[in-house]
Amino acid sequence: MKKAKLILNEKQSIDLPIIEGSESEKAVDISALRSQTGYITLDPGYGNTGACTSDITFIDGESGILRYRGYPIEEVVHNTNFTDLSHLLIYGDQKDNSDLIKFKKNLRQHAVIHEDMKRFFDGFPPNAHPMAILSSMVTALSSYYEDSDHDKEEIIDINIVRLLAKVKTIAAYSYRKSHGLPFIYPEPELGYVENFLHMMFADSQEDHHSDNIIIEALNLLLILHADHEQNCSTSTVRMVGSSHANIYATISAGISALWGPLHGGANQAVIEMLKMIHKDGGSYKKYIDLAKDKNSSFRLMGFGHRVYKNYDPRARVIKSMTEKVLNKLNINDPLLDIAKELESVALNDEYFVKRGLYPNVDFYSGIIYRALGFPTNMFTVMFALGRLPGWIAHWREMILNPKNRINRPRQIYTGRSKRNY
Ligand code: CMC
Repeated sequence: MKKAKLILNEKQSIDLPIIEGSESEKAVDISALRSQTGYITLDPGYGNTGACTSDITFIDGESGILRYRGYPIEEVVHNTNFTDLSHLLIYGDQKDNSDLIKFKKNLRQHAVIHEDMKRFFDGFPPNAHPMAILSSMVTALSSYYEDSDHDKEEIIDINIVRLLAKVKTIAAYSYRKSHGLPFIYPEPELGYVENFLHMMFADSQEDHHSDNIIIEALNLLLILHADHEQNCSTSTVRMVGSSHANIYATISAGISALWGPLHGGANQAVIEMLKMIHKDGGSYKKYIDLAKDKNSSFRLMGFGHRVYKNYDPRARVIKSMTEKVLNKLNINDPLLDIAKELESVALNDEYFVKRGLYPNVDFYSGIIYRALGFPTNMFTVMFALGRLPGWIAHWREMILNPKNRINRPRQIYTGRSKRNY
C-alpha cells in the first residue's frame, strides 16, 4: 500500500495510507492521525475532506463529468426513466429484472398517504412554503410506519418504497394546499411522473400535462437531479442517518438542508433574480457588476459550484431541453433570453472565468418548470423529488455498511482558557 509521510515537527512524523478510488482519485487516510499524534485536520466547509467511500456516483468537476453507477449522465437521460434510474441508484446492478418489476408494482401500491395525514395539511397557513410542508410531512410519516429500520433489509426496502411513493403525493398535496385546491388521489394505473402530474393538475390542465414533451422533460429533470454524491443535503442525510434516526426523520433533514438558496433553493432564487432583471428593463450588465462587487452580497444565482470548475454537465442538458420544451409548447419566455444573455456575458468576463464560475443545474431548470405550469415556490420541492433516490441510496449504502460509525467531527477550540466563575 502506498503511504504519505506527514512531518509534524522535528520529533514527530507519521506514515499515512493512501486510498485510491476506481477513477484514480486519491486520498490520505488520516483515521489514525489523532490517536497516534494528537493532531486533527481542519477543513471548514469540507472542501478537501472525503467523509466516506461510495459506489454510487462519480463526479470529475474539472472535466465536467457526472456518472451514475458508471453511466455518463448524457446517456442516462436519454435511455431510462426516473423510476428505473431510482432503482439503479439505490440497488446497483441486478441479476435480472424481477426486482425492478416488484419495485415498480410496490411504488404504485404505496402512493396513497394515510387518510388522517390529510388533516395535517389543514394546520398550515394558506401561504405556507411547500418545502416547509414537505419536510414536516415526511417526518410525520415516521409516526405511521415501523421505526426499527437500520438493520433489517426487508424493513429497509419497504420503507424505501413508501418514501419514494408517498413523497410525490405529499409534494402534489402541498401544491394543492397552497392553492386552496382539493386533493386528488393517486391513480394506480399511472407511472411515477404521470401520476405526479395527475395529482397536481388533473382537474385543471390534464390534457396539457399528458403531452409527451412534458412527461419527457419532467423525467429528464428528475433524473438530472437524482444524485450528486456528497453535496450538502446528502451529507446531512448521512450525518443524521449515522445516529440511526429513522429513515423518514433522516430524509426530512436532507429536505431542510436542500431548501437553502446556496443549494436547492437556488432554482427559485434564479427565477426571482431573472424576474427582477426583467422588471428592471433587462439591464443584466448592472447585475453582473453587482455580482462582482465585493461590497454587495448579491450573487449571480445559478452560477458557480463547489465541485464543477467547468460547465455543469446537467446545465448543458437542461439548457437544450429548455429550448425544446419552449418551442414545442410555443412559449416565448423573456426570462430565457435574459438568462442566455447573462450566461454569455459571464462566460466572457474575467471575474467569472478566473473563478471557474459556470451555469449550474439550477440556472435553466426554473424556466422549464415555469413552462410546465409549476409555481416558483414549488421548484425546490421538484429538486427534492428528484434528489430523493440519491439520498436513499446513500443512506442505504451507509446503514448496511457494518463499519459505519456515528458521524462526529471534531473542532479546534478558540474560546477563553479556564477562568474562575
Ligand atoms: N456570483 C458571484 N460570485 C460568486 C458566485 C456567484 N454565483 N459563486 C461564487 N462566487 C465567487 C465568490 O465570491 C468567491 O470569490 P473570491 O474568491 O473573490 O472570494 C469565489 O467565487 C469562490 O466562491 P465560494 O463561495 O468560496 O465557493 P463555494 O464553493 O463555497 O460555493 C456555491 C459554491 C454554489 C455556494 C456558490 O458558487 C454560490 O453561492 N452560487 C450561487 C448559488 C447557487 O447557484 N447554488 C446552486 C448550486 S448547484 C445545485 C446544488 O448543488 O444545489
